[in-house]
Amino acid sequence: MQKKASTVVVLGTGGTIAGTASDAGDNVGYTAAQLGVAQLVRAVPALKDASLEVEQVAQVDSKDMSHAVWRRLALRCAHHLSRDDVIGIVVTHGTDTLEETAWFLQRVLAPAKPVVITGAMRPATALQSDGPQNLLDAVAVAQAPGARGVVAVFSGQVHGARDVRKVHPYRVDAFSSGDAGLIACVEEGELRVFRPWPEGEALGVDKLPEDEARWPHVEIVVSHAGASGAVVRALCTIGVKGLVVGSTGNGTLHRDLEAALLEAVAQGVKVLRSTRTRDGRILPTARGALPASDDLPPAKARVELMLRML
Ligand code: SIN
Repeated sequence: MQKKASTVVVLGTGGTIAGTASDAGDNVGYTAAQLGVAQLVRAVPALKDASLEVEQVAQVDSKDMSHAVWRRLALRCAHHLSRDDVIGIVVTHGTDTLEETAWFLQRVLAPAKPVVITGAMRPATALQSDGPQNLLDAVAVAQAPGARGVVAVFSGQVHGARDVRKVHPYRVDAFSSGDAGLIACVEEGELRVFRPWPEGEALGVDKLPEDEARWPHVEIVVSHAGASGAVVRALCTIGVKGLVVGSTGNGTLHRDLEAALLEAVAQGVKVLRSTRTRDGRILPTARGALPASDDLPPAKARVELMLRML
């Protein structure tokens, strides 16, 4: 008889959860990505008897996340997800680009098991470090029957990869799912589930180029009062392949920027409109010659456009 899957693999990538400061009262002047993932797990006594495996995939401040680290992470996730004894994966990650990594992994893996990304807003040395509880909650989600897809767990809240956004630079509950709402919450290790888990079609890890230079060059530009086409034209001269534009409101663009974007399209550059508003999506209108990203904010729309171009 086949044994029930019970192992949770915890993959470390760095971030504030692994950060340290010389003063326990300092919540901002710390260095991210200092402690190994094994140390983070050891700091949570309640995980002592859990069936866990740990692996250090990277050790970065997530503002410096690279396509090479993303590929390595996706490959390690795919490897562990294919194991019969693995019930789910937890990824420890910096909060700054966590939502981009979440969307990247969801689009590449669309896993039938849970891949749970977590982190912390306070370093491991802080008086009130939030990392240990977030890690404990993330493991509970990775072990939960019925859980699937890529989610982020923070402050007892479970956010879907598509919806999760960092909305505060300091508060411990720094993440929101906006209009979509939470998938679930975690209370003393128990899940209260509100809506379905993320699903979708996987692009597959084989599509991800090993050579960093072969990832499509996609940049983000923003429409604003007084915008011009200068940045778009400059990017076209260096051979940009795709542009995401953070539009105003319901996908509207400054006319000078729009003119430059239409020139870029004529040169073969792929353009995707995203909205720079915090919540909501771009509704289709009779205007808007350029395709829109629906509800994906600019940073996730960039991931989306890049993956579509592979
Ligand atoms: C990071 O994103 O790696 C640093 C900031 C954080 O984790 O909160």
